Amino acid sequence: MEDYMRLDKLLANMGYGSRKEVKLLLKQKAVTVDGVTVKDSAMHVNPEKQNVSVFGERVEYVEFIYLMMNKPPGVISATEDRYDQTVIDLLDPEYQHFEPFPVGRLDKDTEGLLLITNDGNLAHNLLSPKKHVPKWYYAKIDGVVTEADIEAFAQGVTLEDGYHTKPGELKILVSGEQSEIELMIQEGKFHQVKRMFEAVGKKVTYLKRLSMGTLKLDEELALGEYRELTEQELELLATK
Ligand code: URA
Repeated sequence: MEDYMRLDKLLANMGYGSRKEVKLLLKQKAVTVDGVTVKDSAMHVNPEKQNVSVFGERVEYVEFIYLMMNKPPGVISATEDRYDQTVIDLLDPEYQHFEPFPVGRLDKDTEGLLLITNDGNLAHNLLSPKKHVPKWYYAKIDGVVTEADIEAFAQGVTLEDGYHTKPGELKILVSGEQSEIELMIQEGKFHQVKRMFEAVGKKVTYLKRLSMGTLKLDEELALGEYRELTEQELELLATK
């Protein structure tokens, strides 16, 4: 991380209010750096080495945040959008301060696991095609999903633009006019799951992501809810 940063930025980032509100705190002599009262909001501090306190309580500096969201339908996986609500809009300002972004995209109508972080390295590792991070999806399909589809997906299927996908692992949960399946893919091409089913003449009518690498959707989270990753979840994800 950057070693030194402005005191007002540090406090604003840590949720002590806007820069203006932070200025008021300083004016009130509420802020100390290494035990010395500070009133200068532009002072540069190193939060890892210096003890910054507000009303006598030490400010724990956190650089990165890691959130798991159960993405609801109707919301865009982006940081901003002119027309639609984004997953970032759903976050508490306390988290928005960190300028997080979604790791990869789920379609507007797709639900389920979405990792949101401001850790570019972790995001890069999870999204890199070289890493083959497996992603499991649950889907409802219009049409009868068969053993032949399992075999086709295991070989990879050719999408309408000529791209041949990497092998996917298909499990049939319910086979009928309306089928239910789970599918693992290792890539993240645009609309990939939907297009893989189109390639075998079927239509995805509902799609939910269940996992990404070692990270599994916490089923306790209602649609639109999110929580911080546990230390264990983060450790597993970062070491993979
Ligand atoms: N595949 C899709 O078709 N859509 C998603 O949102 C994710 C994977």
